[in-house]
Amino acid sequence: MTVYLDNAATSFPKPARVYERLREYLERYGGCPGRGGYRMAKEAEAVVADTRALLAELFSVQDPERIVFTLNATDALNMAIKGTVMPGDHVVTTVLEHNSVSRPLNRLERKGLIQVTRVGVSPEGRVDPEDIRHALTARTTLVAVIHGSNVTGALQPVEAIGPLVRQHGAWFLVDASQTAGAVPIDVERAGIDLLAFPGHKALLGLPGTGGLYVGPRVRLAPWREGGTGVLSELPLQPEMLPYALEAGSPNTLGLAGLRESLQFILQYGMSWIRTHELALTQRLLDGVNTDGRFKVYGPADSAHRVAVISLNLPGCPPEAVAERLDRAAGIAVRAGLHCAPGAHQALGTFPRGTVRISPGYFTTEEEIDACLRALQDLADDQWHSHDQPHEALLRA
Ligand code: ALA
Repeated sequence: MTVYLDNAATSFPKPARVYERLREYLERYGGCPGRGGYRMAKEAEAVVADTRALLAELFSVQDPERIVFTLNATDALNMAIKGTVMPGDHVVTTVLEHNSVSRPLNRLERKGLIQVTRVGVSPEGRVDPEDIRHALTARTTLVAVIHGSNVTGALQPVEAIGPLVRQHGAWFLVDASQTAGAVPIDVERAGIDLLAFPGHKALLGLPGTGGLYVGPRVRLAPWREGGTGVLSELPLQPEMLPYALEAGSPNTLGLAGLRESLQFILQYGMSWIRTHELALTQRLLDGVNTDGRFKVYGPADSAHRVAVISLNLPGCPPEAVAERLDRAAGIAVRAGLHCAPGAHQALGTFPRGTVRISPGYFTTEEEIDACLRALQDLADDQWHSHDQPHEALLRA
């Protein structure tokens, strides 16, 4: 049996109704949406429209057509960055960003096309909105901030940053990879112009799904051009959303799964889900802090986190800890840089990184306790070994 604690990478398992509906979808409704008037095509079209409407409800978006489906959050972030930024622009971002934001920006910067300011963080890994304000210049067109760090789980104050960005006249892009489905998000209240999210993490859907909310102040350059099933007489990609940014047959199977998981989330309620995940996070934090042998990163108060904890056992490389947890106790966690090297530079954990433990909706208290026991056993073994402790651990 695996104790799965890598929900920050992708959630597992999915709600039972997702598995059941996927089979039904494949057997009965697998038509191509928007490409035919027959019943199967209409069923597929309803899957796409319903999923858009559920996402709009979840993020308090007035017009569901402003939700564009993408392959994942990386795809959405690339679409947002490359569709808005022009030569000569200045972009403000943070040191915490995942490579899906920092790599596109780094490339544009290295080509001399844009300037980028990377705002630092407090020792707990949180951005101060005043630092964002001070970084804004007359040329700033885009501010890109990760909502919840995928390394420490630290929540960033997007509701305070959004109004600053809007007042300045720039666009606000939020990477909700770790928060969509885990933390309530209201795009209007937070002044978010672009919200990128994956379908397969806390939204509990399938890999290969994700999306971008495009607010009314933004016009993005086309990303993919091709068939839309409507307005086919036009020589160019239609300007109307979502067709302006969606082309080709969509991932209807993935969206059928996402429709089910969104219904599940809305049925149980975000506040119930958040309470459950924070209780598990606090249990884990209390356990490792009481033990005292681990270095734990990120906010001390779980209210400023999503369910992501990074830690290290001094003297033992993170990958050795993860390997031992897997081998000795069947516990799945992720070790390393988590595709966010800047966050580790800020934490002082570059280049080896940390051990990341991320409970999810289906994690139980017993699984958290099993993880704590395995971490304690590992620390005991290290304590009793004398030289090259991590090699001794791997032999144990
Ligand atoms: N970006 C994902 C993670 O943090 C895959 O693990």
